[in-house]
Amino acid sequence: MQTIYEILATDHRTVLNIIDTIEKSESPERRKHLITLAHTELAMHSKAEEEVFYRPLREQTGDDGLLGHSFQEHDKIDALLASLQFGSAEDAEWMRNLRELRRVLEAHIALEEKDVFALAQANFDDAEAFEIGAQMLEEKSRFAMPNPVNVALSKAKELLHGDNQTSSS
Ligand SMILES: [Fe+2]
Ligand SMILES: [Fe+2]
Repeated sequence: MQTIYEILATDHRTVLNIIDTIEKSESPERRKHLITLAHTELAMHSKAEEEVFYRPLREQTGDDGLLGHSFQEHDKIDALLASLQFGSAEDAEWMRNLRELRRVLEAHIALEEKDVFALAQANFDDAEAFEIGAQMLEEKSRFAMPNPVNVALSKAKELLHGDNQTSSS
């Protein structure tokens, strides 16, 4: 069993490692593939984090300043990720946006692991930290479920592909 703090910190390192790999990658295609992965990872992380961690913390402490600011950072990070995901990874501007993403992300993670964790540790006991950790894993797995639109699209592609084959199932 892991506490919510350990789970969040591990997720943060995972995403920063993906960004490191993108920065080192020479291939624009690989950069685009990896930014999609980073976006998916982070979207699941942030949604679950808001739901199981920020929400009860906000209810318990009545804090709006710190958590409100942190929520806004999630939106900013998401917008940067979307622009990278849909932009051309061959541009110099794309690499500039990537560096901006790293800057915003590192600042957000530092705020979360220092100030938000401190606020939580003052309000949640150990049992709650483990319980919220378990909820985080469960919530993330719920977001990771195949999106029905994607499932339908891949089924449609299979069918179209099947039409051109001499034999199919
Ligand atoms: Fe986080
Ligand atoms: Fe966050």
